[in-house]
Amino acid sequence: MQIDDIRKIAVIGAGAMGNGIAQLGIMAGYDVCMRDIKQEYLDKGTQSINASLDKLVAKGKISKEARAAALNRLTTTTATAEAVSDADFVIEAVPEIMKLKQDVFTEVDGLVLPHTILATNTSNMSISEIADSTKRPAKVIGMHFFNPAVLMKLVEVIRGTATSDETLQITADLALRMKKVPVTVRKDSPGFIYNRINAPTGLLLAKILEQGTPGPEEFDAVFKPFMPMAPFELMDYVGVDIAYHSQEYFARTLSPDYSPGRKFKEMVADNRLGKKTGHGFYDWTEGRPQIDTSKTTADFDLNDMIALQVNEATKLLEEHVVDDPKEIDLAMANGGGGIGPFTLAQNIGYNVLCERCDRLSEKFHVDVFRPTRTMKSGNITI
Ligand code: 3HC
Repeated sequence: MQIDDIRKIAVIGAGAMGNGIAQLGIMAGYDVCMRDIKQEYLDKGTQSINASLDKLVAKGKISKEARAAALNRLTTTTATAEAVSDADFVIEAVPEIMKLKQDVFTEVDGLVLPHTILATNTSNMSISEIADSTKRPAKVIGMHFFNPAVLMKLVEVIRGTATSDETLQITADLALRMKKVPVTVRKDSPGFIYNRINAPTGLLLAKILEQGTPGPEEFDAVFKPFMPMAPFELMDYVGVDIAYHSQEYFARTLSPDYSPGRKFKEMVADNRLGKKTGHGFYDWTEGRPQIDTSKTTADFDLNDMIALQVNEATKLLEEHVVDDPKEIDLAMANGGGGIGPFTLAQNIGYNVLCERCDRLSEKFHVDVFRPTRTMKSGNITI
């Protein structure tokens, strides 16, 4: 199969990621069928697509005619067979629970045509383990979009142990047709690039919550002037449940240091998941929260977050998840970061960042914050 053979895409899951991916598909000219388990989820997903297309029309990014044509290419269903039986490419975007993903893949594998590629939008989990639940592991791949999928440029294309070159090529080509920047992840490893590099910063947020001070808004006030969304605000935007499941997964696969703290557990149990439920660290019922930047703290600054990110990025090099530091910078710059970690480190100095890692490691008793051998050497060429 080649990219031009793809006519219809099925998207499994109509949540924030699923509906964003479906929108990208219809905007790229594909017929897309979005499937979810309840009609109300499909209705909510369709409403989000409509609202997003309206914004794009209002900004002059697409014409009214293009909007109407795109919507004509969208269908929805609660019946998996109806969505996938004539699809050439399936993208799964269901919650981050391995058993759930495997069940979806087993079911879909039994319903699709022999040539169909099955992609997972998993944030962190093993592509190979998901592929094992099918009889077509060569046609299973990771295709990881970022929230909001319509605007964020990065798509990580992750190879499982059995993924074929053809599957990899078609998936990267599909990302390009959706006007994205595909970055290939050659080794199937927890969190891939972007979420792995953000894993220790997520852990730092968990530790700060446990400690009780500074509060989320005080902490965010430090970062708000430098970022489109401050760290706790972004966690609310993406979903506290997603951060929680990620940390559970990292605790199992990377280090017990990542065990999600008590506060995260409580928030998930109370359905305080952020934007999607109206409440998280902030109140979202009236739209984006207004962060009071005067409530800032002197305990942390931007270099703390950068240090943890650069350090984790060096682990990706040491573990050969990615061999070229430029690819890491490309991924991070297009996933929401703006500037890649190694470019930042070159400007700040590896010695300064190592000192921050040591300080944070001691302060919170976290081993994964310790600077790596590569970090200490500072010997990275970009
Ligand atoms: N569809 C279409 N347009 C949209 C939109 C959508 N869903 N959401 C926002 N927009 C448009 C707005 O209309 C506006 O257009 P304009 O610039 O022409 O006026 C523009 O985007 C900016 O929107 P806002 O003014 O509302 O707000 P911001 O300037 O803050 O931008 C944002 C919104 C692009 C989401 C920005 O806040 C941002 O980049 N946030 C960080 C997102 C990020 O880091 N994502 C990665 C998360 S990690 C992840 O997804 C991994 C996963 O595995 C969990």
